[in-house]
Amino acid sequence: MMAVSNRIRTQKGWPDATMSASGHARWGIVGTANIARAQFLPGLREAGGIPAAVASRDAARAAQFASDNGIERSIVGYENLISDPGLDALYIPLPNSLHAEWTIRALEAGRPVLCEKPLCGTLPDTERVLEVAGRTGTPLWEAFAFPFHLQLDEIKKLLQDGAIGELMEIKSNFHFSLRNPANIRLSRQLQGGALLDVGCYPVRLAQELFGPTYDAAWASAVMGGEGVDVDTWGVLNYPGGRRLMLSSGLGRSYDTFTTLEGTGGQIRITNPFHPRLSDSYQLVVGSEDRTFSSGAHEPSFTALIRHIQAVLTGSEPPRQLAVETSLPTARALADLAASLRAA
Ligand SMILES: NC(=O)c1ccc[n+]([C@@H]2O[C@H](COP(=O)([O-])OP(=O)(O)OC[C@H]3O[C@@H](n4cnc5c(N)ncnc54)[C@H](OP(=O)(O)O)[C@@H]3O)[C@@H](O)[C@H]2O)c1
Repeated sequence: MMAVSNRIRTQKGWPDATMSASGHARWGIVGTANIARAQFLPGLREAGGIPAAVASRDAARAAQFASDNGIERSIVGYENLISDPGLDALYIPLPNSLHAEWTIRALEAGRPVLCEKPLCGTLPDTERVLEVAGRTGTPLWEAFAFPFHLQLDEIKKLLQDGAIGELMEIKSNFHFSLRNPANIRLSRQLQGGALLDVGCYPVRLAQELFGPTYDAAWASAVMGGEGVDVDTWGVLNYPGGRRLMLSSGLGRSYDTFTTLEGTGGQIRITNPFHPRLSDSYQLVVGSEDRTFSSGAHEPSFTALIRHIQAVLTGSEPPRQLAVETSLPTARALADLAASLRAA
């Protein structure tokens, strides 16, 4: 894995000469996704990046999305965006079933990629994508923004300092209410479902706090939509009796409340994944109780995009590359899904 990181830093063509001159990355967006409008573009602007182009399967949709969202150019066909010479990085917010195909095409073309989470909907697809990322040395990130947030750094510091003793259990929710029956999350063919869409967040949080190695997985679910899990709960067992208890779904009001249970206290986090400034975390030890602001003064994606741009200009070594982080998440999601089918 280090070899990949070193290769990225030293690979001929990185940092890209055009981008280094201007200091601003020119981004292309693959598809006219809602998340691109709602989260990626506000984060990109805050991070000083340029929304240079968007591609759609449909010309009118691309043009409308570009004009509504202040994107310089619209392009018809994802392959034309990937081969466009005027871009420094690509953002891929397609349905989960299409992540592997288009990420592989972009990596093979030497394009740095930020692909939406989960990196892929299946473990074999994840392995294929990571093989290409490793072989080409082209940087790839999976769009989990929260490992780049100040809040997670502060919480990790509290844990390292022993503020709640030994962390034994993570109880983590990610629920929201989906109203549109045509939403991609309700399609089995597009690899929707609650576990892949939002259950991946608690899984990734546990990986951040417990490490990549778990012993066993169990999950159960209520099925709905076009044959997907819509309300899903489960457990990942970690060595020493430590565990993640996750609850995720598409049918409740927004809830990302998460508790870290230690041998000597608790940390209660209102939103570990996409905190706003109004969010907070609370340290409870015996009768003592202190509340800290999330410190989230900018859009959730900003720190992640700022980091990618710093890597592209050569001013930061890469962190949280998919080749270093995505496989354990994909394995855990596959094991939870396998158990879920057996339930
Ligand atoms: N990191 C986060 O915080 C976060 C939050 C929400 C979603 N996501 C992830 O982002 C991805 C997109 O989610 P979204 O809700 O933004 O999706 P969306 O609004 O439904 O957009 C998906 C886009 O994919 C393109 N597409 C290509 N083939 C398609 C097909 N067969 N059916 C539907 N769309 C197709 C469409 O663009 P054209 O038709 O214009 O080509 C469409 O606009 C998912 O992987 C999701 O898990 C991440």
